[in-house]
Amino acid sequence: MLTSPNNRMTCRPEKSLFILGEWVPPFAQDLPLVISGCRYDITCYDDTEFNTCGVPFCPTLEKAAFKRRAEYLAGRHCAGNALAQVGLVNQTVATGPHRCPIWPSRAKGSISHTSDIAVAAVTREPVINGVGIDIEAVVPDAMAEELARLVLTGDEHHLLASTDDSKGLFFSSIFSIKESFFKAVFPLVQGYFGFDAVEVTMLDPKTQRFQLRVQQDLHPGLVKGDCHQGNFLCHEGMVCSLFLLRERWCSAPRYGTA
Ligand SMILES: CC(C)(COP(=O)(O)OP(=O)(O)OC[C@H]1O[C@@H](n2cnc3c(N)ncnc32)[C@H](O)[C@@H]1OP(=O)(O)O)[C@@H](O)C(=O)NCCC(=O)NCCS
Repeated sequence: MLTSPNNRMTCRPEKSLFILGEWVPPFAQDLPLVISGCRYDITCYDDTEFNTCGVPFCPTLEKAAFKRRAEYLAGRHCAGNALAQVGLVNQTVATGPHRCPIWPSRAKGSISHTSDIAVAAVTREPVINGVGIDIEAVVPDAMAEELARLVLTGDEHHLLASTDDSKGLFFSSIFSIKESFFKAVFPLVQGYFGFDAVEVTMLDPKTQRFQLRVQQDLHPGLVKGDCHQGNFLCHEGMVCSLFLLRERWCSAPRYGTA
């Protein structure tokens, strides 16, 4: 059971100067998951904020720059809030191999951050085999064509060329969708793959829906030709994408859950 937005159980830090307040992308309310997000101020970060926010300091951060510590903390703060909203209070999310977050066994989730915003999405729905969330600042139109060469497939280039929308927004949407797909399926695939492994075939900002097609056999449960849907939106200059892997079957991932 998911709590409604009006009935939120959140772990608010008592005296954090670092966490500024909520920032939640306005996805349709009927999605089977909880999203928690915040704005944070890196200039107010220091290591004591981990204690203040009730987030364990991750050993992999020992040699990390402040920026990395801050984004990690903000992401884990959102993850803790999202877990609390699905009834898993005082849970932590560790970091596994390849930076894959390790969620409590009864939940699946995903984290994303920019330099001042973090979001986490969590579900306990058993039919969902993987969750991916991603936020990206929309790139300027002038950068989109250059970056498109690295990220888009041939057919996606045609979509980009034919769009009446801003090229920067369109490119950023496809990029973010691919990142959200990657995060959702990584615990299943257990390996990296390129941007050509999936192709975005439809984007509709009005319905917040996208479709993609898998272009390579990534896993026995995720094969070439499979089509999936997800959600995306643009909000305050950011693109946010959400991909829920709901398909036929799913073997237990070796990592990704505790
Ligand atoms: C890992 C990756 C997706 C992160 O995306 P990003 O835009 O750089 O950063 P974001 O802030 O959105 O996301 C970072 C979070 O993603 C999560 N993440 C990182 N690696 C992950 C993995 N292997 N599996 C699942 N989630 C992962 C982590 O929670 C991380 O935050 P944390 O380290 O603070 O816990 C990206 O850097 C990457 O390596 N992509 C692989 C290539 C790819 O996307 N191919 C496209 C396939 S279609």
